[in-house]
Amino acid sequence: MAALPRSGVAAALAVVALGTLSCQTGTRPPASVPGPGTPPAVRSRADEPNTTDGIYTVAQAERGIGVYNAICVECHVPEDWTDPAFLERWEEASVFRLWYWIYERMPHGNPGSLTRAQVTDALTYIFQLNGLPPGPSELADDDDAIDDYWIIWKKP
Ligand code: HEC
Repeated sequence: MAALPRSGVAAALAVVALGTLSCQTGTRPPASVPGPGTPPAVRSRADEPNTTDGIYTVAQAERGIGVYNAICVECHVPEDWTDPAFLERWEEASVFRLWYWIYERMPHGNPGSLTRAQVTDALTYIFQLNGLPPGPSELADDDDAIDDYWIIWKKP
């Protein structure tokens, strides 16, 4: 007995769905084709300021090695941060996101103990490990500066 009303409801729903569909096909305008000169809707993050632009200095990454040797080495090998799964996870994320991830969670068991400068330096060491080019200026450790860039691991 229970099957009857249910299939009745299903049929009614199908009719409603069909009605909606035919209604849509009747009124929907044709897909619009961008005219000549229209910029593409989605700009690649690789076209915006990113980690392939030389956003840290060699001296800064060397300080990062110091942070690594003093703190991170207890649990990490450098290969943790060149691992394809790690790179994949953060590709096209903002530098801000990875920065805060480290700031809020590391070192495991004692989160919140790193200074902003330590996190920034360690992060530039991670950039260096992955062959990202250094540049003329250090990556500053204020929110505005670290929020300026996307993570792109390889020049396109
Ligand atoms: C006491 C151990 C410990 C120390 C010290 C430590 N980490 Fe970690 N780290 C972990 C563990 C465990 C994970 C993975 C678990 C998790 O996601 O929290 C991790 C994960 C990470 C990740 C991973 C992100 C990913 O997506 O795979 C980064 C980046 C990282 N740590 C950076 C650091 C840096 C930089 C330092 C030194 C300043 C540091 N860690 C020190 C234990 C540690």
